[in-house]
Amino acid sequence: MIGIEGGRPLRGTVRAAGAKNAALPAVMASLLTTEPVVLENVPHLLDVDAAVALAQAVGKEVTWQDSVILLRGGDELAPEAPAELVQRMRASFLALGPILARTGESRMPLPGGCAIGPRPVDLHLVGLRQLGATFDVRGGMVHAHAPRLRGTTVYLDYPSVGATEQLLLAGALAHGTTTVVNPAREPEVVDLGWLLSAMGAEVTWHEDRVTVWGQRTLGGATHRVIPDRIEAGTYLLAGAITRGEVTVEGARPDHLDALLAKLSEAGARVETNGDRITVGVEGRPEAVNVQTLPYPGFPTDLQPPLIAFLATARGRSTARETVFASRFNYVGALAQMGAQVQVSGDTVLTDGVETLHGAEVEATDIRAGAALILAALAADERTAIRGEMHIARGYADLPAKLRGLGAEVWATG
Ligand code: EPZ
Repeated sequence: MIGIEGGRPLRGTVRAAGAKNAALPAVMASLLTTEPVVLENVPHLLDVDAAVALAQAVGKEVTWQDSVILLRGGDELAPEAPAELVQRMRASFLALGPILARTGESRMPLPGGCAIGPRPVDLHLVGLRQLGATFDVRGGMVHAHAPRLRGTTVYLDYPSVGATEQLLLAGALAHGTTTVVNPAREPEVVDLGWLLSAMGAEVTWHEDRVTVWGQRTLGGATHRVIPDRIEAGTYLLAGAITRGEVTVEGARPDHLDALLAKLSEAGARVETNGDRITVGVEGRPEAVNVQTLPYPGFPTDLQPPLIAFLATARGRSTARETVFASRFNYVGALAQMGAQVQVSGDTVLTDGVETLHGAEVEATDIRAGAALILAALAADERTAIRGEMHIARGYADLPAKLRGLGAEVWATG
């Protein structure tokens, strides 16, 4: 449980950690080679622990010192990834392509859905099938076979982050080049491209497609993971919702254009300088409307935290969620804290109130938890947030980082 005594403006500077959603595919990329892969700026998160455990389970030797992970070996990769690891974390499904490309077969469970919708992987499988893989899906298990993957052009019906990453990973060891038309172009996908290029599989981006040049074998590499734009955005919103001023350093302002535009529109003061972003709010912000979109559109992962911020703005704000089928689980808990918030179809709307109140609430996924943390920081009393395991999956050292900004936060077992 995380306890927060709200009502204190947050002020100060916090350092962005490495991006969870770049570190996870990078760990999976290490499965493509037996040479050493060194990943720097890796955040200490439960999801990264799970990805490392999976890499070890299929044959990699891994050492993790501070924020540096060394992955090597894996001459003989096991084709089967442990079911419980894959079910624990959806991104583990990205191990399918690399293991298939290395060994010619791969067995793993279909990832479980989670609190933000069914989360299918059909685009992954359709794409890999076009590279020559065959699948036998029985009882929730995927058995994949491919003598040698052959590069081709794959069109994605939707610019799926995971499917794009899956195809870049598999294409890196396919015969010939693989081109993905209508790819996701989130910074984390581009970061994976940099790592694959450093390993020897050149990845090049064009306006509507991305190409990877497959190799017979790949080398090792040393790669620094990009800063986490979602974590950075969450801390900036913590300063905004508490009417304080927070600076995030070690960030990439160019990865947060959509959020910074919305914060400016709401009347926040936004300054960027190199790798530093500062957001300050005096008085009540104005309502804004947003829709979530694939990058560079407004990121779905910041929709719940943004709505928490707008719950005390002046007027009615709306957020249309176009990426996931349902990402509104946090709305009930926000309402428990006094927010005037409701869901209408694919849109969440909130009529701003003066203040939020403390409550006992439950987080159901990483970003829902972030929204409740923000609301609690602004509330006029004490809030207890259960489900902190979800939060720890996406935010390293959150209580300590918030205390460093002046928040009164405690975590109990
Ligand atoms: C990645 O998930 C991120 N996770 C998510 O962050 C993020 O919200 C999402 O991209 C969108 O930006 C990681 O990178 C580990 P998608 P992913 O494939 O790859 C549908 C967080 O909190 N779809 O782009 O699963 C899917 O159902 C997490 O850090 C298919 O229909 O996202 C969804 O509606 C949450 N078929 C939409 O596409 C498929 O085969 C976007 O999914 C694949 C996806």
